[in-house]
Formats: sequence, structure tokens, C-alpha cells
Amino acid sequence: MIERMVQSDSPDDDIQEQELEITLRPRDFANYIGQERLVRNLKLAIAAAKKRGEPVDHVLLYGPPGLGKTTTASVIAHEMGANIRITSGPAIERAGDLASLLTNLKDGDILFIDEIHRLHRSVEEVLYSAMEDFKLDIMLGKGPSARSLRLDLPKFTLIGATTRTGALAAPLRDRFGLQHRLEFYTRAEIAQIIMRAASILKVKISQEAAEYLAERARLTPRIANRLLKRVRDYADVNGDGIIDQNITNQALALLEIDALGLDPADRRVLEVVIEHYDGGPVGLDTIAALTGDERTTIEDFYEPYMMQIGLLERTPRGRKVTSRAYSHLLGSRATPNSHDKSTRAKNVLSEKNTSGEEKPSASATKVTRPKDKEVPRNPSSGKKRDDKQKRLI
Ligand SMILES: Nc1ncnc2c1ncn2[C@@H]1O[C@H](COP(=O)(O)OP(=O)(O)OP(=O)(O)O)[C@@H](O)[C@H]1O
Ligand SMILES: [Mg+2]
Repeated sequence: MIERMVQSDSPDDDIQEQELEITLRPRDFANYIGQERLVRNLKLAIAAAKKRGEPVDHVLLYGPPGLGKTTTASVIAHEMGANIRITSGPAIERAGDLASLLTNLKDGDILFIDEIHRLHRSVEEVLYSAMEDFKLDIMLGKGPSARSLRLDLPKFTLIGATTRTGALAAPLRDRFGLQHRLEFYTRAEIAQIIMRAASILKVKISQEAAEYLAERARLTPRIANRLLKRVRDYADVNGDGIIDQNITNQALALLEIDALGLDPADRRVLEVVIEHYDGGPVGLDTIAALTGDERTTIEDFYEPYMMQIGLLERTPRGRKVTSRAYSHLLGSRATPNSHDKSTRAKNVLSEKNTSGEEKPSASATKVTRPKDKEVPRNPSSGKKRDDKQKRLI
């Protein structure tokens, strides 16, 4: 089973990673890089709310992990001068838990619910009237003697974050006045984020190395920050602590991160589609069975970036590997869906198995499965990879 290369090895590492995130998180719009459309809209909403002396409208932030949903929520709170209470969908188990959270808020406070798509349905229903009328409906007792009680709530702002808006019930989604998708960053923005993080962490990095690293950070700030930390470790041990392009290159080679920022686990997704389904189309569940991942892990963590850079396509009949992915994996151009292509891709993948040699940009993964079209019944023969901490993002 392949684990992502940049991963936490111990609980201490997890704590360190979390501390790093907090240190590097921009606090206000002045330090916030990129997401111009989102920032423009939020600034307007915040200015208008302040002018009216009201809390800002409820905000829904969605998009792939690591792009800055939590960061954006805390920036909104800072810009509003508001207190923020942070919780997450799965942490609110009962309607009563939400009721106590809501009744403890003060006028103007912000309640941030991460992974809001994972709220229980019964909890979600309490949110409807809370969001719309700032009222809390509670049922007292059970059966014929049950009666409902309506409590006034402070005027608060709910900020919800989710990696998947599709999983959110329409009545809940519709109650957010502001709904914004966080986009992948440009390479130039990521390079800027790296330079900013380097100056906070007092790491010496050349502009050239920051740009080089930015190309491999999957257009995602969290990955950029983590890669910077790994390269810094490498530079401290193998150099004089200064990060130049050469050191960056060596550190990334050690992490098996290729020129497009893919790690072995990403490449594995492309490889199984090529190896077993001639590049697709193939259903998500089948890919998940072949790689040993949860379906949602592929949807949330692997696919968005690979689709963004045109390696993978979503078609009505399933996922399809593009010619760009072939040329990336094989180091040469090949036409998708031609017989030559699939034979060649398979040959290259199986050559790697026997010889152990790899093309520079190809995967370090050993492909050893039989090349039949059957989905193995238990391909991972172990726990499915669903642990967010085990991943780069
Ligand atoms: N606009 C930005 N400018 C600079 N750094 C940023 C920006 N957005 C995010 N970051 C950095 O990226 C890290 C990850 O961001 P954040 O935790 O907000 O992502 P997220 O979208 O909430 O991820 P998840 O879906 O996993 O909760 C932060 O610690 C921060 O340092
Ligand atoms: Mg978050």
C-alpha cells in the first residue's frame, strides 16, 4: 500500500504541523494572497455589514482541502472584529449540542462549522430557523405531552466549510447568503506564499527555488508550506541551511515528488486506470477498489488537482486518463485510446516491475498486479486509506 510521501509519522509531528499552520495562517486581508474574486466579494460584504452595524451574512466556503477555507473564516472574523467559535460537523452529535453552542454565542459572533456536510440531519434542521430567524426551536418531552419552545438567539454569522457542496442538503445551502468556491492558486501566488512562509520561519530561500517549489506544490498553499518545511530539513542536514534550486531538486527527488507535484499515490491512481482499463473511462468505485482508497478520498484529495491540470477527465461513463497524463507518466507523447498507447503504457509500467528501472518522471510505484480486467476483491488487503493525516493535504 502506498502512503503519501509527505506525511505525519507521529502524533508529535501532527502537533507540529498544526502549529505550523497556525503560525503561517494570514490573519487579515493585507496578508492574504490570491483568491481575488472571493476577497473582493468578502470585503464588500464586510464593509456593508459594518456600515449597517449588523453581522455579515452567513458564508459557505467550499473547495478542495488546503486552499484556505479555515483561514478565510478566521480572516472574516478578524476583519469584522468578531469572536469566532470553531467546531465541525461530526463533532456536533445531537441537536442539544448545537443548541448549547448557539445559546452561548453573543451578538456579532461567528460560528465556524468545518465539514458542514457531515452534520446529522436532526442537527441540520435546528440550524434552519437559527440561520433564518435567529430562533431556536426545541422540543420538550416526548409523545402527546411534547411541546415546542422558541428561544431568541443572538444575531450571529454562520460560516460553513465543505470540500463537497453536492453533499449539502439544498435547504441548508440556500440559507447561506454568500457562497464561494476557493480556487486553486496560480504558480506565482504559490511562490509568493512560499516566500512569505520562508520569511516568517526565517528560512533562507532563493526566488528561483521558491518558484521551482511552487511548480510542485499542487497549486495548494498547505502543500507549499509543508514542502518548504521538508526542503528546509533537507537543506539543514545536507547543506548549509540555504535553500537553492539544487537542494530543492534533491529534496523533492527524495520525497518522490515529480515535476507536476504528483507523489506515488497520485500516480498510482493514473496507473491503475491505464493498466487495468486502457486509460478508462472507468467508475470511481472501481478505481477506489484498485488503489485501496476510499471513494471519497479519491474524489476529495486526488482528483481535483489532477483534473485541474488536465491529467484526468470526468465523463458520463467514468474517469478517463488524458494524453497529458500518458506523456507525463511515459515521458513522451502518446495518443489516448489508441491501441499502441495502452500497450506502450502497460509495457512501460510492467518494465518497471521487472527491471526496477524508472523513467525520471514516472512513478516509483511497483505495479505488480495481474493485467486482467477484474477488480480484485480485496486489493488493499488491509485498512482503506481514509486517514486525512496520512496525506500530503
Ligand atoms: N490566501 C492565503 N494566503 C497565504 N497562505 C494561505 C492562504 N490560504 C491558506 N494559506 C495557508 O494554507 C494553510 C492551509 O489553509 P486552511 O487550513 O485554511 O485550508 P482549508 O481549506 O481549511 O483546508 P481543509 O479543507 O483541509 O480544512 C494555512 O495554514 C495557511 O498557512
Ligand atoms: Mg480547514
